[in-house]
Amino acid sequence: MTAATELLGIDVPIVLAPMGGGPSTVELAAAVSNSGGLGSLAGGYLEPDELRRQVQALKSATDKPFAVNLFIPNRQIELAAIEETITLLAPLRAELGLAPRPDVSTWAPDFDKQLEVLVAERVPVFSFAFGALTETESDALQSSGALLVGTATNIAEAKALESSGCDLVCAQGAEAGGHHGSWLAPAEHSLIGTMALVPQVCDAIDVPVIAAGGIVDGRGVAAALCLGAGAAQMGTAFMFCPEAGTPLPHREAMTAATEVDIAVTSRVTGRMARGIRNRLMTLLENDPVPPYPVMNKLTSELRRAAARAGRPDLMSLWCGQAVTLARPHDGGTTSPSAQDVLHSILGGVRQALAELEGVADGL
Ligand SMILES: Cc1cc2nc3c(=O)[nH]c(=O)nc-3n(C[C@H](O)[C@H](O)[C@H](O)COP(=O)(O)O)c2cc1C
Repeated sequence: MTAATELLGIDVPIVLAPMGGGPSTVELAAAVSNSGGLGSLAGGYLEPDELRRQVQALKSATDKPFAVNLFIPNRQIELAAIEETITLLAPLRAELGLAPRPDVSTWAPDFDKQLEVLVAERVPVFSFAFGALTETESDALQSSGALLVGTATNIAEAKALESSGCDLVCAQGAEAGGHHGSWLAPAEHSLIGTMALVPQVCDAIDVPVIAAGGIVDGRGVAAALCLGAGAAQMGTAFMFCPEAGTPLPHREAMTAATEVDIAVTSRVTGRMARGIRNRLMTLLENDPVPPYPVMNKLTSELRRAAARAGRPDLMSLWCGQAVTLARPHDGGTTSPSAQDVLHSILGGVRQALAELEGVADGL
């Protein structure tokens, strides 16, 4: 047991990362929670009614603790370069048979309404990225019984999250797949590797730390625990599971990619994110684009259509730097179940820690 597992009420120090945009499903979160870890549901892109439906489905699928994750909104939406970007994307949309202009009614779901759902549903753990909660928001969630987990990519963010009342802090290293959670410094100034970030964050704050980024097997979890974290948050490790909603072209690209194919870009969604370098990333590389969530919305229909059409070149292929460790051993696109993946990770943790004991004996 660690301080983090005790506080979260889970049996093993493994947190399933929330993975918005496809991989995150109720089934995957339930499987991890039912296996003793903390399953997470990615709610950031869900409209309030759909969020409620998924939270209720998860409650029916597990009586164990779980987390629901949202994005702290950028309250001042910047609408620069929209027409230029629509013109830039039009030929790509045409390749997929889409109309030249995306049909946009809102840039992102209403955060206040999303929060209302989570307070009413009394979720056990609320995790979030891209900022900090206000005092009123924290009070409402904590009064409903939720533990709060904020995301930090540097020491200042970790301290700010602790001061704002977070019960735990997720330290997200630069290796992490998906969006980089930085919010107090520009993302490019905050690309600190997990190995360097986690012990510095552990030394800087008193609340338990969850390590994230590039942790895919038992060796990684053992390393995170050695660095002072109380649990590891793992995304890429679970993306091949049958319970995950990772589209087939995304799985195929992850099967073929090597560590040097994984890159960061701010151009696909307007926020820095890590995934497999593809044509969409390269095409947008030199163009100014509007910031998140505007760019995210301008490309989302295109990326979804690309997934349906089996066109990985126009998708966002988010995954972390340690993707080759996550692959199914048979070379296919589906790994064993999430429960089996979790058990095999735990076997690896035991083995790594036992080997370290042998090393310590000889020192
Ligand atoms: C496909 C994908 C989607 C993600 N979506 C979210 C999200 O919705 N919210 C969030 O806080 N983090 C999200 N992340 C980041 C994870 O929380 C976590 O930091 C990351 O998966 C850790 O790195 P790893 O993939 O190497 O394990 C996402 C990661 C991936 C790979």
